[in-house]
Amino acid sequence: MPSYVIVGASRGLGYEWLRQLSKDSSNTVIGIVRSVDKVQAQLDADSISNVHIFVGDMADNASLEKAALEVSKVTQGVDYLIVNGAYLSQKDASLNPSEFTGRAAELREEMINSLDVNVVGVIYSVNAFLPLVRKGTVKKITVISTGMADTEMVVQHDIPGALVYASVKAATNMVVAKYAVELKGEGIVLLALSPGVVNTQEGMISEEEMKGLIVLIQKFQAVYPDFKGPITPAESVVAQKKVIEGITLEQTGSFLSHKGNKVWL
Ligand SMILES: NC(=O)c1ccc[n+]([C@@H]2O[C@H](COP(=O)([O-])OP(=O)(O)OC[C@H]3O[C@@H](n4cnc5c(N)ncnc54)[C@H](OP(=O)(O)O)[C@@H]3O)[C@@H](O)[C@H]2O)c1
Repeated sequence: MPSYVIVGASRGLGYEWLRQLSKDSSNTVIGIVRSVDKVQAQLDADSISNVHIFVGDMADNASLEKAALEVSKVTQGVDYLIVNGAYLSQKDASLNPSEFTGRAAELREEMINSLDVNVVGVIYSVNAFLPLVRKGTVKKITVISTGMADTEMVVQHDIPGALVYASVKAATNMVVAKYAVELKGEGIVLLALSPGVVNTQEGMISEEEMKGLIVLIQKFQAVYPDFKGPITPAESVVAQKKVIEGITLEQTGSFLSHKGNKVWL
């Protein structure tokens, strides 16, 4: 009877985790979200009744501690903790570093918002649920990262944009490495996992962003002929689950793609 906690589960990949895990009635599936109503309406629409939803904001430590208390009433231990939620800066996506010249306040604001959730919020999330992970049987903590945080990939594929997102997610990876070192002796496995390029924003991105995405995809296709464009959330979660299940304590602290290696697409 494995238990799963997904932090940041209201939509996109986080919701897909809930949807897929709930199909196995032996799973205990828990979603942590900022706002319950919308996700509960979606669960009802999808006729899913075996998922527990609690309020938790990655930028609010007290809310996560409260959520962990609620979770402890549902399950004694957490086998799989997946910290999926992230601050995704829209403004930053299309700007190169030097294009922040004259936009100092904007840069700082985006950095702080991103750090608040994607670094500090990840630490809050792990610390809040760590006592329950310690009581779990499987003891696996996965933090969702991105291939964009791989410095070699950025240089090799010539990607100057998404400065804030990529830089902050690189810091997220370091957080994962630090926990891995600290918790290895307790048998707890840490993983920074990139989900691939996934069409979670389908229908939600602007024409300009879509043009940028197409250019990026064409660039990738020149290097990865197998890459056919974004995959679906369902495909990504199936692949992520396989990687999480396969990772061992010897590999703790790894930064891997949904393919289980450093091929990010
Ligand atoms: N999609 C991709 O191609 C891609 C590629 C690489 C990495 N990723 C990573 O995959 C993860 C999921 O991304 P996605 O594509 O599913 O994005 P998404 O559809 O925009 O979903 C983002 C999720 O994060 C939650 N979130 C944001 N701030 C939060 C906070 N302070 N506390 C709790 N939850 C918060 C959102 O909740 P609300 O509904 O409350 O806003 C939402 O559930 C992220 O870590 C992202 O960086 C995605």
